[in-house]
Amino acid sequence: MTRDFVLDWLGGAAEKRFRRARPEDATLPWDSFRPDDYPEAAVVDARAWWTELAANELAAVIEFSSVLSALAVAQAPLDLLGMCSDFLADECAHVELGARAAMALGGAAPRTVDFRQAVHTPPADLTPAQWANERVLRVSCVSEVLAEAAAARTYAACTEPLPRALYADILRDEVHHKQLGVLYIEYAYESWSDLERERLGHVLRDQLGKFRGLWDVPRRTPVGATVPEHRLGFLQRSELAHVALDAALTKVVAPLAEIGVVLTDAELASIFGADVSRPA
Ligand SMILES: [Fe+2]
Ligand SMILES: [Fe+2]
Repeated sequence: MTRDFVLDWLGGAAEKRFRRARPEDATLPWDSFRPDDYPEAAVVDARAWWTELAANELAAVIEFSSVLSALAVAQAPLDLLGMCSDFLADECAHVELGARAAMALGGAAPRTVDFRQAVHTPPADLTPAQWANERVLRVSCVSEVLAEAAAARTYAACTEPLPRALYADILRDEVHHKQLGVLYIEYAYESWSDLERERLGHVLRDQLGKFRGLWDVPRRTPVGATVPEHRLGFLQRSELAHVALDAALTKVVAPLAEIGVVLTDAELASIFGADVSRPA
């Protein structure tokens, strides 16, 4: 069941506690976004982009909730649990930034969502450790890596102060979100059997398959000269496809293959198309 994407704010004690965890960044130049300076179509796309970003960040709250519960059930190291629990507040803060950026451009774009798709319950046939392996792989080693790569390239392409400042704030956190994957694998790797690595290869195929729409487009082009989209804080569709494909191959598939989490040739072709070759 899909619903309209809406955000509410309680204020009072809830706001006070949240602001203690994530103080408002008073340096953000909200007034510098002037929608009248851009073609109307670009502003419409920008409002949709920042609304989408807010919705994706809320989905990340839900996704990291299940990483945290999986790690806790598996009795992973306590400091790793504490690190992961901090990410929930990060992602809430990112929702707020995305929503406020859309508002600065004239308001959020109408959008429907079904956040239940981001909720995951452990299958009965997996051990707690296997479920933790899977959740960390899906979220920190795939989703967060792709999100960070796209945000970093967009930040580099942005010329305007507000989107640059927003991406700088977001990227400061996202680096740690993907680092959790590295730290967890260093901790858990010795306990992985050949069978478990093989299973995680299939999990990797499934998770990357969810992002196929990002790079499976008619045209992929490197990020080019500054266009209104860049100034408003997002990449053109063909540029995002190029960035996402490169990140998936070089920052997800290649490093995981090095530790024995490998896609078969058929899996690689089904995710990326027959014309894309295995990264070195
Ligand atoms: Fe985020
Ligand atoms: Fe994140």
